[in-house]
Amino acid sequence: MDSIAILDFGSQYAQIIARRVREAQVYCELFPWDAPMEQILAIQPKGFILSGGPRSVYEEDAPYIQHFVFKTGLPILGICYGMQALTHALGGQVDPSARREYGYAEIESLIDSPLVSGLSKVWMSHGDRITKLPEGFIVLAASGNSPLAAMGDRKRKYFGVQFHPEVHHTPNGKKLLRYFVVEICGAKPNWTPASIIEESVERIRKQVGNERVLAAVSGGVDSSVAAALVHEAIGDQLMAIFVDTGLLRKNEGEQVAAAFRENLGAELLTVEASDEFFSALEGVTEPEEKRKIVGEKFIRVFERQAMQLGQPKFLVQGTIYPDVVESSAPDRNKAQRIKTHHNVGGLPEDIQFQLVEPLRYLFKDEVRAVGEALGLPESLVWRQPFPGPGLTVRCLGEVTRERVSRLRAADAILLEELSKAGYLGKHDFGSGSSSIAARTVVSQAFIVLLPVRSVGVMGDQRTYQEAAAIRAVTTEDFMTADWARLPQDLLAKVSNRIVNEVDGINRVVYDITSKPPATIEWE
Ligand code: XMP
Repeated sequence: MDSIAILDFGSQYAQIIARRVREAQVYCELFPWDAPMEQILAIQPKGFILSGGPRSVYEEDAPYIQHFVFKTGLPILGICYGMQALTHALGGQVDPSARREYGYAEIESLIDSPLVSGLSKVWMSHGDRITKLPEGFIVLAASGNSPLAAMGDRKRKYFGVQFHPEVHHTPNGKKLLRYFVVEICGAKPNWTPASIIEESVERIRKQVGNERVLAAVSGGVDSSVAAALVHEAIGDQLMAIFVDTGLLRKNEGEQVAAAFRENLGAELLTVEASDEFFSALEGVTEPEEKRKIVGEKFIRVFERQAMQLGQPKFLVQGTIYPDVVESSAPDRNKAQRIKTHHNVGGLPEDIQFQLVEPLRYLFKDEVRAVGEALGLPESLVWRQPFPGPGLTVRCLGEVTRERVSRLRAADAILLEELSKAGYLGKHDFGSGSSSIAARTVVSQAFIVLLPVRSVGVMGDQRTYQEAAAIRAVTTEDFMTADWARLPQDLLAKVSNRIVNEVDGINRVVYDITSKPPATIEWE
């Protein structure tokens, strides 16, 4: 598989560059700028892309381009800081701009270069700029503020752009990246779901041989696609289990099991453990404690099950590429760490298994494409994110079987009505699509059951029952979110049905807070 190495100089957009290259169907990997040569060259790259970064090339300890990169003689594309580092290394001049340039800029191609042709509006975000080109380079494009907005040395195949072709604010930026990797580097665009499956299947077979492999399927996209891939590779050597904690959405277990049976011909063993979870949660109302209990219980049930199945040697994990990259990235994306508290429901670190991680190099959209290609149903592949500790985080106050079943019934009504009105389904999570339709789809929607009772009147009866909140958000990355502007008639219908059909709820409210300052879940 031809590949491209992306060197990360601390850019908040580094992962987006990688996704754009993958969208051009070329395999690529991200490396910190100072990763060891052997590690980077192990993927046998056809070229390098240098990301942007927050530093200035003249600062002490500023990140630089390691010498071996030039020695390979391979093409290089420097973006923003990457362009400045390239200029600095090759004897050009970089200086602070009179003022920081941030936002849209118009650029003009100065010569006929297919790399920058078709670009006019671009996204800029830089403090320094190039004031003198290194020897051998010519100017390809200029903007008002950056007379040297794009440069190239066609002989050595070195290129630099001051703007960010990877972000969706640069229309046609994708084309530039595709042109660089396919035409300039000569990488074959053969990274497709079919080739990903073929390669993974081979790798999994080689890793596990005749051994048995265990997978815990949660109903989420990643664990389902990971198990499906392993099943494709080794068939019945895979033992997939589904722990029914009693804290999942309505019919979730049945749906996932049916999808496995009907679409993959794989059996999913359901482990009914809801009694254990409910009794451990009895009387507990503190959110962190609830999470901890669910996490620990899950591990215990899982370990017991593994023992009963004769302690298989391998375990499938649905780790995906962003998790891998974030744990080794240079100092950036601090906000991402907010997510660390989300790994509850995972397995202990000292677990006695060797891990099979078939999604380790895939982005979420690739995971979905692979899931679809393997035949998993759209309802599973495009499922909304669901927290590891399950409905505990949406059942405020004490988690009892009765309250969870109330919550589930209300939640099922909300999802049914949203689905009927066309608000659920395929969603372009963060891939930067400008499609308006994709953005109006609700990214995540659920009911929160509140431990608040209020007075109502039903028929001639006075009621004193709990309240439910509808939470529906639109977001690209779940780090920030806005409340969905759902039509009032749709909200009315949901509210009406919940109060009429669900015992114990007499009031429905709509959460109109964005994140930040609120979070998506209430906890
Ligand atoms: P918050 O509430 O922090 O949630 O705005 C952001 C996204 O993360 C999901 N979430 C979780 N996912 N385990 C998970 O796998 C968890 O413990 C967890 N808690 C929240 C949440 O549903 C939203 O999509």
